[in-house]
Amino acid sequence: MQPKIFLILGGYGNSGLALAILLLRFSDCRLVLAGRNLQRAEAAAAGLNAEFSGMRARGIRLDAADSAALKSAFTGMDMVISASSTTQYAGSVAAAALEAGSDYLDIQLSSEKKLASLNALRPQILNAGRCFITDGGFHPGLPAVMIRHAAQQFDRLNSANIGSLLKVNWADLHFSEATLREFAEEITREIANPRPAIYRDKRWRKASMFSATDYPRFDFGDPFGKRYCAPMFLEEMHSLPEMFPALQETAFYVSGFNRFVDGVVFPLLMAGVKIHPKGKFSTLGKLLVWGLRRFSKPPYINILKLEARGEAAGKPAYRELRISHEDGYLLTAAPVAACLLQYLEGAIRKPGLWLMAHLVEPGRLLEDLGRMGIAVQWKKGN
Ligand SMILES: NC(=O)c1ccc[n+]([C@@H]2O[C@H](COP(=O)([O-])OP(=O)(O)OC[C@H]3O[C@@H](n4cnc5c(N)ncnc54)[C@H](OP(=O)(O)O)[C@@H]3O)[C@@H](O)[C@H]2O)c1
Repeated sequence: MQPKIFLILGGYGNSGLALAILLLRFSDCRLVLAGRNLQRAEAAAAGLNAEFSGMRARGIRLDAADSAALKSAFTGMDMVISASSTTQYAGSVAAAALEAGSDYLDIQLSSEKKLASLNALRPQILNAGRCFITDGGFHPGLPAVMIRHAAQQFDRLNSANIGSLLKVNWADLHFSEATLREFAEEITREIANPRPAIYRDKRWRKASMFSATDYPRFDFGDPFGKRYCAPMFLEEMHSLPEMFPALQETAFYVSGFNRFVDGVVFPLLMAGVKIHPKGKFSTLGKLLVWGLRRFSKPPYINILKLEARGEAAGKPAYRELRISHEDGYLLTAAPVAACLLQYLEGAIRKPGLWLMAHLVEPGRLLEDLGRMGIAVQWKKGN
């Protein structure tokens, strides 16, 4: 059989390039790396061809804002992988993939606008028999995989909460301007209009500033210790209570960034959003990025920690699952590469629009993360 061809939009960015390396290492697929800078796309492809045999990568210029160019670039691709900071064009990228007869996967944040534009295409995706996968990556991407896998170790799963710690060396990372803008806009939007992120007492609700239990502490181990975390909406969490009817409590939480960002920038953003709910706050967005770069300190690591409680063999049971790596981009790319290995084997290539975390076989995905160098650790208790 002919090797599959994947086009990675944002293929020379941090996440896109990490994904390209894993795909070339663990599969026989061929790649087209795309972005608005032809030189960078070609240089990245040349670097990959020097490292992996078979001249399997090439670079092209492509702007997600140009719908006509998208359709022509996507023609002949088995899958379009959107690893670019182009959430605002998610609808047109997905529509162009559909018109070109390609499957689709994206790794962008679980934003309301992206999910709405993909949901609007659901009937056409099904009619065309295409496999569209959204919310791929680490978060979104891994939390519901961790819970689905842990649930297999319980007769009844009563609670499943995940805390995440992101200690990123922002100062040394180089991003596209579009990425920084998208990141600041998403945080502002989430502060202005938070979505229900906590499941308790049989319903989803928003966090309350006045409830300490809505901001729990997770112990991330030495040297990080216990950190307060805030709930964050992820679409993949929402159908977990239907999948596991005994579940009484579930949520995904994120720790803060650093004292300046948490103690100065976020309160200013919250106050600004209260006074001008429709404001853009680009200056505060810049202050956020400056604060991340100026005040983030080592040691650097990215951790997801699941704390699950329930019953196993008639007794109370507790399981912890911790997934971590120092390189946040490897941690973003590895779940996507592991998902694509299942796709390439045909096991999950089904028509429809799917959340990555619900489509994959969780045990196999966690095994593949281990093979890709990610630490996956379990702890059992009562
Ligand atoms: N799910 C997860 O766990 C997870 C984790 C990390 C990041 N992400 C998401 O992944 C995306 C990429 O993040 P990153 O950190 O990898 O960013 P990055 O390093 O800045 O890379 C972004 C890439 O997108 C390209 N790009 C930007 N605008 C474009 C446009 N209009 N047309 C074509 N290409 C465009 C950039 O190239 P040019 O600017 O040269 O065009 C660059 O190659 C973001 O949306 C981010 O939120 C998800």
